[in-house]
Amino acid sequence: MRLLCKFLAVLLPATLIGAALVLVLIRRAVEAVVVGGVERNAVVLARAAALDAAAGMASRQEVKVLPHLQALTQVKAALYAAALDTEGRIIAHTTITEKGKLDEDPLTRDALSAEAPRTWRSLSGPQPKLIVAVPIWAAPDAAGGDAFLLSLGRKRLGTLKLAVPLAPALKTVTDILHAVAMIVAVVAVLTLGLVVIILRGMLAPIQDLMSGLKRIGAGQYGMAVRADSRDELGDLARSFNAMSGELARTTVSKDYFESVVDNMYDLLVVSDAEGRIRTVNHAAAEALGDGDLIGRPLVDIFEAPPESGVVRDAEVVLRTKDGGRMTALFSASPLLDRDGRPRGRIGVAKDITERKRAEKALLAAKLAAESSAKELEAFSYSVAHDLRAPLRAVDGFSQILLDKYAGRLDEAGRDYLRRVREASGKMSGLIDDLLDLSRITRGPLKLATVDLSALAREIGEELRKAEPRRAVDFSVATGLTARGDAGLLRIAIGNLLGNSWKYTSRHARARIEFGARPLEGRTAYFVRDDGAGFDMAFVGRLFQPFTRLHATADFEGTGIGLALVERVIARHGGRVRCEGEVERGAVFYFTLWEDEP
Ligand SMILES: Nc1ncnc2c1ncn2[C@@H]1O[C@H](COP(=O)(O)OP(=O)(O)OP(=O)(O)O)[C@@H](O)[C@H]1O
Ligand SMILES: [Mg+2]
Repeated sequence: MRLLCKFLAVLLPATLIGAALVLVLIRRAVEAVVVGGVERNAVVLARAAALDAAAGMASRQEVKVLPHLQALTQVKAALYAAALDTEGRIIAHTTITEKGKLDEDPLTRDALSAEAPRTWRSLSGPQPKLIVAVPIWAAPDAAGGDAFLLSLGRKRLGTLKLAVPLAPALKTVTDILHAVAMIVAVVAVLTLGLVVIILRGMLAPIQDLMSGLKRIGAGQYGMAVRADSRDELGDLARSFNAMSGELARTTVSKDYFESVVDNMYDLLVVSDAEGRIRTVNHAAAEALGDGDLIGRPLVDIFEAPPESGVVRDAEVVLRTKDGGRMTALFSASPLLDRDGRPRGRIGVAKDITERKRAEKALLAAKLAAESSAKELEAFSYSVAHDLRAPLRAVDGFSQILLDKYAGRLDEAGRDYLRRVREASGKMSGLIDDLLDLSRITRGPLKLATVDLSALAREIGEELRKAEPRRAVDFSVATGLTARGDAGLLRIAIGNLLGNSWKYTSRHARARIEFGARPLEGRTAYFVRDDGAGFDMAFVGRLFQPFTRLHATADFEGTGIGLALVERVIARHGGRVRCEGEVERGAVFYFTLWEDEP
């Protein structure tokens, strides 16, 4: 609206001045027409009267002149008419009292010598009047002819002066002017009204834009104004809408990025070229100190500042706001401007305090477990070792008893003795197994590349030699090699193949397979058979020493084989898994060096 007021403030005086000017010009024109008409008319009549009065003037006889003057005033409703001699003395006057006087009026005196008619306005007296002065020439000899042409070379007798009232003419002018003023006023008001309507229409889009700008100022990004006109204002509105949309998009993405940065779990710190902290995210503010972080030197937050420039996962200790310490993995890189000049540095720190604590606790637990396992191993080894001597004594003396005193014993006694020997033999086997188990975990690994395929084939041949009659389809994948301790791997693969050989023995035909396949992204070696299998419900017990799922009557064994396999594979950084189904076979997988890429 203010723009409209400004327009009106300019337009209104301009209209008034224009109207006044128009009125002045019109007044002049009307006056020229109306008064000019009166003037021309008066001159014509005065000339005619001058011709008529010429004879009287020649004889200077008032009585001959006055009737013409009176006739003239009647025709023209003139104020007065007078005939002056060449000196300006009044010969005849319609106002009798004026006769004989000398006309002192300077304009009249000028007219006395002028050959052409003179007119002027006189405002003296009660009403304005037009004075006309025409020369009176001596009457021509011949009658008729043009008075002007006839006057040439003729004698001047005097001047006829006629005073015509101007009031009626001026009233006509004023009346016309009033009418014109009314028309001008109406036209001006209509024009102004029209201009206001047009201006309002033109200013509406500008007002739209202004309110749009105010709303954007108040944070309503993305709002649009009407932009349907095809003119420059329409273009402006369209540009405004485009700008508003762009603003909304950039603002949204700014908000989006701010929320991403603020929702980061890791600490984000940005410093300027002087190494002072400029921006921190929520996590950094929480951990290192709220508002007071901004402006502080970046190095202040570190116990020992990391290197400058690019840093990748450097382990650092940060000073937390509560005076504590935070172990973190810190990565940083320089922030460059568009021209590649350094503007600062952006750093991200990942809190690993808990992880470190857990690692330490794990290490301690592992060391404790290892030491107690070692103690246990040492204990069981020494027990097993120490048991051997008395066991040998029991076995030896039982044998002596059988050899030397068999005759003194009855059959039952001899049977008991045989059982003692059997039991001690079994116990000796168990002791050997225990010692094997201990040995596997104790000695250092002799690492080399081992041809697993060849190893499996050798074991297969040994098994077949021991029981050549069995119909076993033994298949070994070629070219399987691995880094490991050949002796230990032989124990592991030997036990797995031995089990397959054993647990397929009750089937007329059997198939045993050694191979490798990818499993969970790694190479898993496997031993598969189609023998007795086992119930998956008991799979967890398979690897416990001396635990068996099958009865000795069905399949002989002590239950130490898989425990050995597990330990061997564990020492090779791998794991053993198995699947089985009763009477449909079993498959044992093992991996090696899982921690290595
Ligand atoms: N290939 C297999 N098929 C079916 N069951 C198996 C197989 N391998 C192992 N088992 C089951 O797992 C148990 C433990 O096996 P492990 O090799 O440790 O002992 P074992 O073979 O019984 O005796 P050992 O190997 O000490 O002579 C076995 O008793 C058997 O029940
Ligand atoms: Mg076994």
